[in-house]
Order: sequence, then C-alpha cells, then structure tokens
Amino acid sequence: MNIQQLLQDKFAAAISAIGAPEGTAVPVQRATRAGFGDYQFNGAMALAKALGNNPRAIAEQIIQAVDLGGIASKLEVAGPGFINVHLDAAWMAAQLAAANTDAKLAIEQPAQQTIVVDYSSPNLAKEMHVGHLRTTIIGDCVVKVLEFLGHKVIRQNHMGDWGTQFGMLLAHLSDKLAANEVAETALSDLEDFYREAKVRFDEEQGFADRAREYVVKLQGGDAQCMTLWHQFIDVSIAHSEEVYHKLNVSLTRDDIMGESAYNDDLANVVAELKAKGIAVEDQGAQVVFIEELADKEGKPAVYIVQKSGGGYLYATTDLAAMRYRSGKLNADRTLILTDARQALHFKQTEIVGRKAGFMRPEQSYEHCPFGMMLGSDGKPFKTRSGGTVKLVELLDEAVERAGKLLAQRDTDLTADELAEVARKVGIGAVKYADLSKNRTTDYMFNWDTMLSFEGNTAPYLQYAYTRIQSIFRKAGVDATTLNAQVELDAPQEQALALKLLQLNEAINAVSAEATPHVLCSYLYDLASAFMTFYEACPMLKDGVEENVKQSRMTLAALTAKTLKTGLDLLGIETMEKM
Ligand code: ARG
Repeated sequence: MNIQQLLQDKFAAAISAIGAPEGTAVPVQRATRAGFGDYQFNGAMALAKALGNNPRAIAEQIIQAVDLGGIASKLEVAGPGFINVHLDAAWMAAQLAAANTDAKLAIEQPAQQTIVVDYSSPNLAKEMHVGHLRTTIIGDCVVKVLEFLGHKVIRQNHMGDWGTQFGMLLAHLSDKLAANEVAETALSDLEDFYREAKVRFDEEQGFADRAREYVVKLQGGDAQCMTLWHQFIDVSIAHSEEVYHKLNVSLTRDDIMGESAYNDDLANVVAELKAKGIAVEDQGAQVVFIEELADKEGKPAVYIVQKSGGGYLYATTDLAAMRYRSGKLNADRTLILTDARQALHFKQTEIVGRKAGFMRPEQSYEHCPFGMMLGSDGKPFKTRSGGTVKLVELLDEAVERAGKLLAQRDTDLTADELAEVARKVGIGAVKYADLSKNRTTDYMFNWDTMLSFEGNTAPYLQYAYTRIQSIFRKAGVDATTLNAQVELDAPQEQALALKLLQLNEAINAVSAEATPHVLCSYLYDLASAFMTFYEACPMLKDGVEENVKQSRMTLAALTAKTLKTGLDLLGIETMEKM
C-alpha cells in the first residue's frame, strides 16, 4: 500500500471535480508535526489563485469533494488552507493485516520495465579500491529494490578491460611468464604489478615501444596477445569477485559486459555518426561539436569519438553500449552509477546518442553521480602513507574492528557464531555508512560512527532486529504465525503502524532516484518508532490482556519483517542473536 499515492489519486479526483485546470499539481506530503494529522494536502492555496477564490473556502470545497470514506477519520482545514488528513485506525489495521500476510509486504507492483543498471565497473588494470565501493553498493541496492518492485533488471558490469594501458601490462606479464612465473603469482598484487610496468614504461629502453606494439596486436586480435590478455583479466576479475563476495553483492561473471565487448562495434558507431553528419573530421580526429553545451563565448563542446591515430575512446564505447542496451537489451531505463566527475561525459554522451538515434526517444538515460569518500582529514580517503586503500583490506579491517567491539559485550554466542556476527556487523557497517548518506555529497569515512550501536547505523538496526527476535524467544512464540487483529489505541501504536505502512513510499523513492539513503532513514525511523512503542506498550507483562498482547506482538512481528526486508534490500545481513 502506497498511502501517499492513494491520497494523491483521491485529491486529484477531488480538485478536478471542483474545476481545477488539467495538470494542476497535487501536493500531498507527510504531516510535519503530530498535531497536523498524518498527511497534508497543500494544493488549495495555488488552486485558489487559479480559481479566484479564497484558499480556505477552496479547501472546504475539496474536503466536501474528496472521497476518503473509510480511509480518513478526520479532514480539517488548517492555517492558510492546508488540509490535514487523519488516517482511520481501523483502515490502517486492515492495511497492516494485508502487509503481514504478503511475502512482499503488500508493496504495489508498478508496470514492469526493463531496466539496465551499470554499476561497479572497476578498471581491471588495477585492484579495486575505495573509489569503486560506492558504485558497487549503491548499485546493488538499487537493483534489488527494482527487482523487488517486479522490474526486469539487467546488471551491466562495464569493466575497464581494454585500452592502451593493457599494452604495457601485457608486455610486462609476457616477460614474467617467460621467466617461468605463473600468472596468478605475478598478478597477486595488481597495484605492484601496475607500478612495475609503469616504471619500465617510463625508464626502460625499448619497453615503451614494445608496449605500443602490444596495443596494436591486441586490437588486431593477435592470438598470443589475446591469451595473455585473457590470463590478465581472469586474475583481475577474480580479485573483484573476492571483493563482491566479501561485500555480499549480487554481481556475477554473467553480469560482466566490459569495454572489450564493444570493440568490434566501435568502427560502426563512428561510421554511423559520420554518415548522419553528427561527427566530422577535425585535425585528423573524428569529433562531435555539441552546440547545446557551448561555453560563454559560444564555442561548442568538443566530443572526440576517434583519435587522429585511429584509436577509439571511453566515449565511443559508451555510445556503443547505449545502442546495445537499447537495441539488444530493450531497456526502458538505463541507470549508470559513477562518481560525479563523469557527469559531463554522460551528459555529452546522452546528447550525442539521442541525436544519432542510438536510443528510443522515450527511453531514459540516467547518470546517477555520487560524491567522494573522504578521510577524517576531509581529503580523499587514502592510506596513512598516501596510497589508495584496497577494498579487500578495508573490509577485513571492518570485520576485525566489529569483532573487538562485540567481544566487549555480554553474549552467550559461541566463538564461531560471534565471528559470523562480526562479519555481518563489520561489512554491514561499512555498507550502511555509505548507503545512508545522500549519494550526491562527499562523505567522511569514520570507523567509530559507523560501528556505533547508537544512531543511524547498521549495528543499531541489526540490534533492533535481534531485540525483537529475543522478545519472541522469551515468549516462546513463532513470529511467522502471528496475525492477530491489530488494535491501534495508544499514540505509540499508531505512530508505529503509520511508519510500517510507509515502506512503499521509501522504496518508490529509491526506485525513482537511485537514493538508498531514503530507505535507510526510513528503517532508522521505523526502528526508533518501535523502541518508543516497546517502552510505552508492554506486551509480555502480567496483566496485559490477551488480545492486546497478540495485537502488540503482531505489530512487533511485522516490524521485524519490515526491518529484515529493508536491510535485505540494502544488502545488509541480519542475525537472530548478537
Ligand atoms: N570503469 C569506469 C571507472 O572506473 C566506470 C565505468 C562506468 N560505466 C560506463 N558505462 N562508463 O571510472
């Protein structure tokens, strides 16, 4: 049940009935204060202007016209013309019962779309570093939410597995193998390997030329070169898979559609752009002049699709990917998650691709940018010695730190169980810290805050979940069988019920905007509403009537189910005890 949507539909019908012009906005919001009911309709003021009447009178007319019988218990005009909506407790109870008996918590399934999500997409020349953390976990949450809503989601891991730097890497690898090293050992540390190759490229006589030869051979599909390349990317993909596994993200080898996959199509892309008069030759290169993105002097932006030497670029590949996703994958929407520094690239790519007809016009192309992860000094996150932080090491440290914190707590868990909890808490903390921030801003990485059991953190939510489980254990009740008639008498019960029914709104926001932080805030508010309810509304105390007890236990069970569903969608594991 999406309450906001329901109210919007009802108010839309009402204002149209009193003569609102077509296309009038229907602003329905959650009430900002307890006294204002549960939701507010704020459109009467604007409508009054359009209809030439006073806002409070218009609000009264809307209240007469709106069909909220059985849904709202009270509608009232407030202030200059707001309409406060008080939801009916029996109606809410009925919605809760529907959610409780549905595996998907009665979330409304929208019209199904095919949605391509391009995320993670690390460069295989190097090890995955913190720069790829955000795209990987935000992207993985977004795909899970879209799938939960019933969409057909196609994951595309657009790995950087091609390009000139591979010439240098393959030349270096070839020498190592000639000296009888095996690829796995030679490539056990990709950072070191890259550094060594780069030093040779810059300093060793003749090596740079060999590296360039390798690039040409690789592009020409030379067999020996391809074998080397396969060996290299296999090892590098395995490194990424180790990270995916630790992170509990859903990407598999089948989702990989790296840059190399488009190699054979790049010449066609450029030829088509030229044939359509979109790309022109400029100083030997093929370029598109983008008038829409002209600078202050009116000089158009220059978008190169082929270099003067004949080489193709990141941009050319993205145009080929766009065409493939539209034509072959039939995407209705494409979401691409990278850091904000690539925003201009995707803006340009969209303009050029649309001009060329590489997408159906109604298709969306959504670059979802995110800010940087900063160290506590406010500068880009680095190791103490200033190097890039390897993701694998960061994740291991998270688990270790969580283990130390958990060891300080009272627990009846065995050492093995504790290790498993530490893994879930540590990894959950790192992921949640990232997911809970609005992705468009930079955020500061801080071990202490993310691992805290208080505040908007993974440990807090995991703990809230285990706490509810322990209530059921104590009561000797199987929570999955609880489905009593819910009675919403106390304000804390009503507040919790309303929160429970707002999951749909949070999920829709993540789906529309690729913003997992909305779901995080929702879960945090839900857990907090539960804690308040739990303090105020005893369920296991002597003297609590059986029907009240059952009702409250049912609310608790639905809270646990909602928390678990939400955390699953975020990619954060829960446990029964901690
Ligand atoms: N490999 C790129 C990077 O690490 C990200 C690729 C994103 N996707 C795309 N279609 N360009 O920055």
